[in-house]
Amino acid sequence: MIESTHSLTAPRHVAIIMDGNGRWAEERRRPRLFGHKAGVDSVREIVETACEIGVNVLTLYAFSTENWNRPSTEVSGLMGLLQSYLQSELRTMLQNDIRLHCLGQPDRLPTEVRTVLLRTIEETRSCCGMTLNLALSYGGRGEIVEAMRVLARKCQEGGLDWQTLSEADVSEHLFTSGQPDPDLLIRTGGEHRLSNFLLWQASYAELYFTDIKWPDFRKEQFLEAVNSFQRRQRRFGKTGAQLQAE
Ligand code: IPE
Ligand code: IPE
Ligand code: MG
Repeated sequence: MIESTHSLTAPRHVAIIMDGNGRWAEERRRPRLFGHKAGVDSVREIVETACEIGVNVLTLYAFSTENWNRPSTEVSGLMGLLQSYLQSELRTMLQNDIRLHCLGQPDRLPTEVRTVLLRTIEETRSCCGMTLNLALSYGGRGEIVEAMRVLARKCQEGGLDWQTLSEADVSEHLFTSGQPDPDLLIRTGGEHRLSNFLLWQASYAELYFTDIKWPDFRKEQFLEAVNSFQRRQRRFGKTGAQLQAE
């Protein structure tokens, strides 16, 4: 059993690619949606644990822009799960002072899901504990292109000068505007790729890959990932000796 990490500094922002639900179900000879349902229990446990250890921002990759290409039955099953998750979690979010935020394109979601999503965002607006970012219909490249469009328009209209455009200007036009970049990026399910997730924001995130599939990723596994993060030295381009001298 892993020790609780209360006494050590928790990562400020943890981002998770929740992968492996389908294979988890297939291993049990059950439909893929069975894995997605089990994955919702992991979501609840990880949100609670992240709050407990003092994470400021938790980002969960729930549905990518590429996931629209899945069979329509799986997509509608996922949308249904999302809707019931949001409906059932509002009370817990308010009790735990969690503010919900969406990264992605809510306009592409079915009306019923969008309605409950926007309502939950509105009702948790004044919560100031942890921010829960749900990445829904999210793609990192699309996010950057959209930011570029807005920046280009502002330059054209005279609000911004293209010659002084900075990294901060780009960051401010992403869905994560105002939030710290992820410190720790976890991917479950055994794949070693980013799958279009937080391409800009993750430039200096510590990466943690595990073969454990999302429905089996619970409090103990999360604390193990956080522990691994806490044992690493983040050098941001400097040398180890420089950091020791600081
Ligand atoms: C992650 O699990 C959930 C979503 C992408 C929505 P998968 O559904 O990708 O599970 P695998 O990778 O097929 O096992
Ligand atoms: C990434 O998982 C997206 C989410 C977890 C929501 P995928 O299962 O869609 O990723 P690929 O297709 O294997 O790269
Ligand atoms: Mg997958």
